[in-house]
Amino acid sequence: MLKTLIKPNCYFLLFLFSFSLVSCSNLFTVPEDEALEDEEFTSAEWELIGRLSPLPTNPPSSLTNRFADDPQAAKLGQHFFFDRRFSKQGTISCATCHSPFHAFTDVESTSLGSGRGDRNAPTILNSAYNHWQYWDGRKDSLWSQALAPLEASNEHNGSRLQYAKLIDQYYRQPYEAIFGLLPNLSDLERFPPQGKPGSKAFDQMAKSDQIMITRIFVNIGKAIEAYERKLISRNAPFDEFVAGNRDAISREAKRGVKIFIGKGECILCHDGPNFNDNDFHNLGVQGNNPQMMDSQAKFMRVPQHPIGGEKRTNAWGRFFGIEQLLQDPFNNDGIYSDNTAANQLKFLTPFEFHLGQFKTPTLRDVALTAPYSHSGRFHTLEEVIDFYNRGGGNSGFMGEKEGTIKSLNLSQEEKSNLIEFLRTLTGRPLPDELTRNPNSF
Ligand code: HEC
Ligand code: HEC
Repeated sequence: MLKTLIKPNCYFLLFLFSFSLVSCSNLFTVPEDEALEDEEFTSAEWELIGRLSPLPTNPPSSLTNRFADDPQAAKLGQHFFFDRRFSKQGTISCATCHSPFHAFTDVESTSLGSGRGDRNAPTILNSAYNHWQYWDGRKDSLWSQALAPLEASNEHNGSRLQYAKLIDQYYRQPYEAIFGLLPNLSDLERFPPQGKPGSKAFDQMAKSDQIMITRIFVNIGKAIEAYERKLISRNAPFDEFVAGNRDAISREAKRGVKIFIGKGECILCHDGPNFNDNDFHNLGVQGNNPQMMDSQAKFMRVPQHPIGGEKRTNAWGRFFGIEQLLQDPFNNDGIYSDNTAANQLKFLTPFEFHLGQFKTPTLRDVALTAPYSHSGRFHTLEEVIDFYNRGGGNSGFMGEKEGTIKSLNLSQEEKSNLIEFLRTLTGRPLPDELTRNPNSF
């Protein structure tokens, strides 16, 4: 009603005095909604919005895992994902920290397995679209990523010998149907019950036996990846909106979209249909590393390169991530990869600018995955937006904050619109059979 009364007047005044719209809005209070109806997104804005949806039907192929799209492998991988026997004490599974009840993450700031870690658990949803895994990208495939927690002391804390024996005992038939015959592991002298690299039991084994056990271990990772590739969040209200249902999201959320692609500059990094650029940035988020807490990043000595400088910590972010990836026997160029032709790591070198950089996370399902950031320091989306609004962090991190991160001057209303928009990125629930523990049925 107000619209039809005011608009003609306004145009009339414009016509008469050739004044700018500013003088109009001084004379009449135009309700803010009017200026921001969704049909008023400019064509340039629609072009940006179009980059964010829909998510491609399939995640990019996993070239280094022959079993990545094998349905039998996915089924077996789901068993492994939920099976707590795959841990030292029989108490931890992947789902402990990546729970289907919490959008495949946990509710902790930093995760608790056999011990407390110093990073926040990201969701596994849509991780198949990531080029790099982990906050620092120290893994270049999902299969290789899955192997790390299984042996990490503060996570599953088990060993590959133990896992090979579990498969022999409980999963021989389905394992062999996919990966071929298991070796005979019954000789306890040759294959002790426990052992991983660095332990005496494992290191004393014949080299060829070590590789044989490690291949079984690697196949656990390859089956888990096949399962993870099915954990995809899509068809969120925002997708419906982009597909043409203009009522799929609220007016507030539409204003949030405008800020996301405009004033907030969020799309600089949260770009593409998975809302990430597959790249790493330094926003100045405070880390959880005690060594970092009392030292301002800018006063830290430039690390020596290559190896040999100060002790590496997780606060080094992407720098340390690259160093670890290059030395990882399970990287895409290693002997356990099913396709080393890509040889993609050849050009990867840690540079000073990588210090303190972390991976841009997906924003799909972000309303369900609190706490936030690599260190889990933000408990709510409000806290994250306030952080961006004041121009990122000032202390407690390594390296240099990126120049693009600067104060945004968002009003209270703009901040809440942005959050309304983020809430429209929650996808349709996954089919039940993918989210439950198949071992308990
Ligand atoms: C004790 C808790 C815990 C357990 C158990 C655990 N994770 Fe994680 N997971 C984490 C944390 C914390 C991170 C982030 C660590 C980092 O970036 O340094 C992570 C990261 C990941 C990522 C990377 C996601 C991304 O976007 O970078 C994947 C995938 C993943 N975990 C899968 C698994 C699988 C598969 C298992 C079981 C074999 C598993 N996790 C077991 C806590 C856990
Ligand atoms: C310069 C790149 C960049 C820009 C611009 C940017 N982000 Fe981020 N975003 C990141 C990175 C990198 C992280 C992880 C930072 C960390 O943990 O150190 C992140 C984390 C987040 C998180 C936490 C997600 C999680 O799962 O923990 C949210 C929410 C978020 N960003 C929303 C936004 C919004 C909204 C904007 C615009 C106001 C924005 N981002 C602008 C790169 C960016």
